[in-house]
Amino acid sequence: MDRNITVDQLLTEDAHVRELNEDQTPIDASLQKMLQDQMNRELANHQLYKQMSFVMEQKGFFGFAGFYKLQAMDENGHHRMFSEYLLDRGILPVLSNQAAPKVEGTTPKELASAGLEREKETTKEIWAIRKKADDVGDAATHHWIQRLVAEQIEEEKTFQDMLTRLELIGNDTAALLEYDEEIGEDSRYPKISKY
Ligand SMILES: [Fe+2]
Ligand SMILES: [Fe+2]
Repeated sequence: MDRNITVDQLLTEDAHVRELNEDQTPIDASLQKMLQDQMNRELANHQLYKQMSFVMEQKGFFGFAGFYKLQAMDENGHHRMFSEYLLDRGILPVLSNQAAPKVEGTTPKELASAGLEREKETTKEIWAIRKKADDVGDAATHHWIQRLVAEQIEEEKTFQDMLTRLELIGNDTAALLEYDEEIGEDSRYPKISKY
């Protein structure tokens, strides 16, 4: 296959998609595109948090570096969920040639704030997929994406709580390093989702 093929090309002029899902319950073309785009966005989220972990490590915040490493793992898990769901529905997942996301800021507070914004955008993206699934009557996608709808609440709260603590800490370096250590302890083991 042409490695530079875009999702749009694949969905509109390429036969792969139709060939693959010919024998399964079809999935609406615009919903397919949203799922493909989200699969790629989750991979971008993975890269964003990985880059943030590098920034934190270089600045000496080893606890925050561990936290962002775990976040990156979570995002890779979401990326995998989307790619596996597409395959289950008979659709070939297509990776896009996206640019590495830019990390704005170098302090734990700036990164937590950027993380919260990214998670809020992701919530909107997930809700939009759920709405599209409802609009086209795709019960399977509605059911499948519920897990991520619930998980986004947790994702936003994690960053909001972190931001609240960092605002309280302000410019107190000793308190910030203590919090970094606490975050490091919490990030030592893979998180278990409440949902
Ligand atoms: Fe995600
Ligand atoms: Fe996330």
